[in-house]
Amino acid sequence: MLDRPVTSAAALDAQRRGPKKPPLLSVEDAKAMPVETMADLFKDHINPGQFHFMKLLGFHKVKIERAEGMFYTDQNGRKILDFFGGFGSLAHGHNHPRVLAARERFQDEKRHEIAIAFLSQYAAALAKNLAECSPGELDMVFLGSTGSEAMEAAIKVAERASGRKNCKIVHAENSFHGKSKGVLSITDSNLYQGEFKLVDNRVKVPFGDLEALKRAIENDSDIGVVVLETVQGGGGIIGAPTEYWQGVRTLCDRHDVLWVADEVQCGYGRTGKFYAFEHHGVVPDVTALAKSLGGGKAAVGAMIAKRSVYMKAYGTPKTAMIHAQATFGGIGEACVTAIEGLNVLYDEDLIGNSADTGAYLLSRLKTIQAKYPQIIKDVRGQGLFVGLEFQDFSRTLPLALRPMVAILDDKLKGSLSGFIGALLLRDYDVLVAFTEYNRNVIRLEPPLICGEEHVDQFCDALDDLLSRGIVSIVKDFVKSQLG
Ligand SMILES: Cc1ncc(COP(=O)(O)O)c(C=O)c1O
Repeated sequence: MLDRPVTSAAALDAQRRGPKKPPLLSVEDAKAMPVETMADLFKDHINPGQFHFMKLLGFHKVKIERAEGMFYTDQNGRKILDFFGGFGSLAHGHNHPRVLAARERFQDEKRHEIAIAFLSQYAAALAKNLAECSPGELDMVFLGSTGSEAMEAAIKVAERASGRKNCKIVHAENSFHGKSKGVLSITDSNLYQGEFKLVDNRVKVPFGDLEALKRAIENDSDIGVVVLETVQGGGGIIGAPTEYWQGVRTLCDRHDVLWVADEVQCGYGRTGKFYAFEHHGVVPDVTALAKSLGGGKAAVGAMIAKRSVYMKAYGTPKTAMIHAQATFGGIGEACVTAIEGLNVLYDEDLIGNSADTGAYLLSRLKTIQAKYPQIIKDVRGQGLFVGLEFQDFSRTLPLALRPMVAILDDKLKGSLSGFIGALLLRDYDVLVAFTEYNRNVIRLEPPLICGEEHVDQFCDALDDLLSRGIVSIVKDFVKSQLG
């Protein structure tokens, strides 16, 4: 009798030693999933409340089938210009060919991923590259998978190296450092902090106010760490002048306090320098990167500390394992992706492009602001990290229209950015990002491969939309909600 391979599912089940296979969807099922099913599964299994907001903005109707360079392509073949850029996660654009090729080679060669038992040549090379990209003594690297994880590592290394027994951490108003519980404690958001029990060794000061920081540090010798985003992203693209950063450095040195610069969003060339703090001629004691470090294809976060700081915290065999990498820290293909991404960043002069194209974007936006001062309150930023702040229209909207706006969700009332973002997508195929703490700010963080032609496409769309006037924009949006 022939020993035939068993193929039928029923036969397989009959031979099975483990549990029966549940009705799992396949990868091909996922790719072919209709947009309505995506919506149902999102509501059933991910986040029904969040779906409400996506629906409000009209984003729930879009299924992305492909992404390349500056554009997404949706299920209808519509190309969407990406000025959101995954909050700064897509410096190289979508699916950069060199990044894809490095990943494919890595897979074809059947390289190893998990780097817990043996040393990893990929983690070693990535750490060396990050030390090369970082100024001064910023040489020691902790690899993780997210910005929150990198920032957790940053505050832990600084807290230990500060040498204070009851070390307190200063953070800024409107700060955003992540949502895991340690960094959530220094993320200034009632919404995100919810009613969680947080770490209480923290002191909040206004961002960019050197006198307030000085007062805090001088009045409390337990303060050992200052954590600041160099440019606040969630706060609405808020920077501080060079005198502030030089003052922070001097103050920290004088009081033996460690400065942690969170560059998760503003770093990696976003502002036209590798790190945003490089605009100010100062070097922090610890910094953190994530987002674009993963080349737009992998989840990679890194904490980079001065060697002296790192050694103080974890430099002996006894202390070395207090905070060593997690299971996926330094995982092979992610590291290779990040190594290739860094090479592309410099080979293609993406940081120079960020500075130049960012300046062009700012100048075009300022012209548009001058044309619509009743709509645009401020345009700010550096490189391709730009905030567009709208006037609060809840007071300027004609009385007759106010009842109409009352049907909208609280989050949208008074905020033009929701309406403008939704209409930019619906009518002009352009995607922009909203801002956590200031609903009047649209964040523009396009890939650093962005050219002037993309800036023109975005600015022409914005100009055309604003030329409709506030009343028509609001009416149009409200109509879309009713229809
Ligand atoms: C400045 C800053 N720090 C930390 C984080 C947290 O990064 P992640 O979402 O990868 O955990 C973010 C994310 O937006 C960020 O903008």
